[in-house]
Amino acid sequence: MLTSNVGFRQNAAMASDTQNSHPPDKNGLTARRLLDSLHRPLHDLRISLLDRCNFRCPYCMPEAKFHADYQFLRRQQLLSHDEIVRIASIAVSLGVSKLRLTGGEPLLDKNVESLVARLSKFAGVDDLALTTNGVLLAPQAQALADAGLQRVTISLDSLDPQIFRDMSGGRGEIDKVIQGLEAAERAGLGPIKINTVVQRGINDHTVLELLDYFRGTPHIVRLIEFMDVGNRNGWKMHHVVPSIELLKMIQSRWPVEPLDENYPGEVARRYRYLDGEGELGFISSVTEPFCGACSRARLSADGMLYTCLFANRGISLKEPIRAGASDAELAALLRRVWGARSDRYSELREQSSEESPLQNKVEMYRVGG
Ligand code: GTP
Ligand code: 5AD
Ligand code: SF4
Ligand code: SF4
Repeated sequence: MLTSNVGFRQNAAMASDTQNSHPPDKNGLTARRLLDSLHRPLHDLRISLLDRCNFRCPYCMPEAKFHADYQFLRRQQLLSHDEIVRIASIAVSLGVSKLRLTGGEPLLDKNVESLVARLSKFAGVDDLALTTNGVLLAPQAQALADAGLQRVTISLDSLDPQIFRDMSGGRGEIDKVIQGLEAAERAGLGPIKINTVVQRGINDHTVLELLDYFRGTPHIVRLIEFMDVGNRNGWKMHHVVPSIELLKMIQSRWPVEPLDENYPGEVARRYRYLDGEGELGFISSVTEPFCGACSRARLSADGMLYTCLFANRGISLKEPIRAGASDAELAALLRRVWGARSDRYSELREQSSEESPLQNKVEMYRVGG
C-alpha cells in the first residue's frame, strides 16, 4: 500500500483533455475550454488580496526583511475590488470555476466580506474558498459564510505553542487559530482543510500530535512538503520531509488507505484512516510533482498574473485595465498568456540545483500559495 500510489498522477490531465471543450455544464451548455500548450485547462484562479500579513513565518516573510519599516504595497498599487471582480469575471468566462482568496493574510482586508458577496454571485463558480492563518477568523467566520464563502483552509504548522509561535515569527497564538477554526465550523465553512508545512528538525516531530488532534473530526489535515518558493526562504532539500516518510510513520500508528481524487488535478493525495476517524492528505510537490494536471493561475495583489507558483515573471493585468482595456481585450490577453503556458517547475526542479536556483521567483506572500 505504501508504494502503490507513487506516481499515480501520470499527467492525468494530458491523458483526459484531448477534447478542446468542457463537458456540458448544469444548464446543458458546452463552452470552449481554454487549454495551455501542455493541454491543461484554466480551471482555478487564486486571488491574493494584499501582501501584508500579521504573521512573520520565517519561510515566507522573515522578520529581518519584513520589519516595521518595510514598504508594503500602497493602496493605489493594490487592485481595487472592482478590478478584482472584473478580472475574475473574465477568467470565469474563460472556464475558471474555482476561486480562492489568499494573501498575505486576506482577512486583513477590511472589506473582504463584500468582495466575497460579489464573487459568490458568479454563475459558473462552484467553489469559493479562502486561505487564512486563522487568527482573525473567529469574529468574521459567520459573516463570510453569510456573504457566500463556501469553505476555508487554515494554515497551521504545529499545535505545540512554542513551535507554533516560532513558526509564525513570534506573532501567532495557537488559541486564536483554534477559536477561528471552531467558529468556521459553526458557520458551516467546511470541509475545513488544515495546511501544515513540514520542515525537518523544526516541526516534523509534532506531526502525529497534530493529526491526533484532528482525528475524529471532519477537518482534513494536509501535510505539505516544504518548497523552494521564492528566493529567500533558505530552502535546502534536506529540510524537506518526503511524504512517503511521513506516510510510513503514520501507517505504523494508524493504518490508512488511499482515496480517489475529488477532482482531476487535485493537489493533495488523499488518504483515510482505516478506523474511520477521518481523512488526511499529502501535498508532495517536491518528491511527487503534480504539474501534469496543474490548472491554476495566480493573481497577485498588485495585479500581476502568474501561471506558476514558481514563476519568475508574470504579466500585468492592472496596467491594461488602468489604461482602459475592454473586457474583450483583457480576455484576449488572458487567452494568449494561458495558451502559451508551458510551466512545470516542480517537474524540472532537479535541473535547477540548490547552488544555482532559478532567480527572482515570485515570493509566496505575493501569491498566497
Ligand atoms: P483544495 O481545493 O482544497 O483541494 O485546494 P488546494 O489543493 O488548491 O489547496 P490549497 O490551496 O490549500 O493549497 C495547499 C498548498 O499546496 C499551497 O499552499 C501550496 O503550498 C501547495 N500548492 C497549491 N497549489 C500548488 C501548485 O500549483 N503547485 C505547487 N507546487 N504547490 C501548490
Ligand atoms: N512550502 C510549502 N508551503 C508553503 N506555504 C508557505 N510557504 C511555503 C513553502 N515554502 C504555505 C503556507 C500556507 C499556504 C498559503 O502556503 O503554510 O498554508
Ligand atoms: Fe503570513 Fe501565510 Fe506567509 Fe505565514 S505563510 S507569513 S501566515 S502569508
Ligand atoms: Fe503548477 Fe507550477 Fe506548481 Fe507545477 S510547479 S504544479 S506548474 S504551479
